Amino acid sequence: MAQVIDDFARTIQLDELWSDPYPIYRTLRENQPVAWVPAANRYLLTRHSDIAYLEKHPEIFSAAETHSLMIRVMGLTMLRQDGADHLRERKAAEPALRPRMVKQRWTPAFQRIADELIDGFRDRGEADLFTEFAAPMAAKCLAAVLGLADVPAQDLQTWSQAMMDGTGNYADDPVVWQRAESAARGVERAVDAAIERLSAHPDDSVISAMLHAEDPLTPRQIRDNIKLFIGGGLNEPRDATTVGTYALLTHPEQRARVEADPSRFKDVFEETVRWVAPIGMYPRQTTMETELGGTVLPAGAKLGIVLASANRDESVFDNPDTFDIDRTGRVHLAFGGGPHFCLGTWTARAQVGAVALPTLFRRLPGLRLSGAEPVRWGGWVFRGLLNLPARWDV
Ligand code: HEM
Repeated sequence: MAQVIDDFARTIQLDELWSDPYPIYRTLRENQPVAWVPAANRYLLTRHSDIAYLEKHPEIFSAAETHSLMIRVMGLTMLRQDGADHLRERKAAEPALRPRMVKQRWTPAFQRIADELIDGFRDRGEADLFTEFAAPMAAKCLAAVLGLADVPAQDLQTWSQAMMDGTGNYADDPVVWQRAESAARGVERAVDAAIERLSAHPDDSVISAMLHAEDPLTPRQIRDNIKLFIGGGLNEPRDATTVGTYALLTHPEQRARVEADPSRFKDVFEETVRWVAPIGMYPRQTTMETELGGTVLPAGAKLGIVLASANRDESVFDNPDTFDIDRTGRVHLAFGGGPHFCLGTWTARAQVGAVALPTLFRRLPGLRLSGAEPVRWGGWVFRGLLNLPARWDV
């Protein structure tokens, strides 16, 4: 049996994972929870318990991956460092992203952004909510929080996509490198302009926090970490917005209860990111030989931590493939665990759960899928909807 499953892991193709990874993850969880997958060029870890264990042992499972494409594209960011170096950069950014700051300073700004976007298309009675709402909302909210509010949302979206494509450019495509490098230069120019402005006039933004921290970051560290924020803080709230909207549109009984009690949109958000984790997989590397899930991993082994699978682990969640806002107890891993636990967690909860979803359902009466074209899904490292054609009553 072990041989058969080993063969299974070796046959997995990236395009299958991209189309629908969940049946593949179920087989891996059941039979080979730590599996060498040649197409991904890493061991994939698919069980909730192994991932929870790994996050408690950063001394064995390092975020400082060697030959990292992320470092090639963005430079050295907090996400590719361990220990004190990581903590120092994280602490500098943190004040701008704490729950109280998010509630008092950013949530009203997010609300204005959502209302302005909806004002722009509401009278039309139809829109693709991916391109006209979720994507620009995520970009504008991120720009505000970072201290780049004067940068056009479209630039942020283009830079984010180009840098993400670069971090996944295992095929070494020169065009992808060229686009990623030009995006990185664009971010650097925008950050340098912000540094000049915020040096003399501090505000509540991430760049200002990094500049004026007790142990301030250098301009290079600020530029590189802002590349991380732009590469990694835009598509996840976008995807949680479209997937959460889609989930309610296709689960009318739950939708009716949420519309009757809007305080439940926060449960919709948490269940959405459990159901379809926006970051499906992230990398780690072993610092020593170790055993996990019955597999011996050599020192220096490259790992893929499959959060998307942990969030559907049947030993933790009943009926894990079902979208169910009434789940209680067991926490999902959509924001990671350990030292790199998502620094934008409270921002994302506010942006999507407190603003984007409730505002869409309140301001677009009779919201429904348009049916003009099918919704399309894609991705496994990052996963979400690729469109969301919708209609409502005007
Ligand atoms: C639904 C939305 C989001 C999800 C599901 C999500 C998920 C994650 C996950 C899983 C990690 C850990 C990655 C790893 O350990 O390798 C992470 C890290 C991070 N996230 Fe998020 N994220 C979201 C939104 C955001 C937003 C809006 C921001 C910025 C405002 C942000 C900023 C960051 C940063 C800076 C890190 C690195 C933290 C560190 O290295 O200490 N995220 N996120």
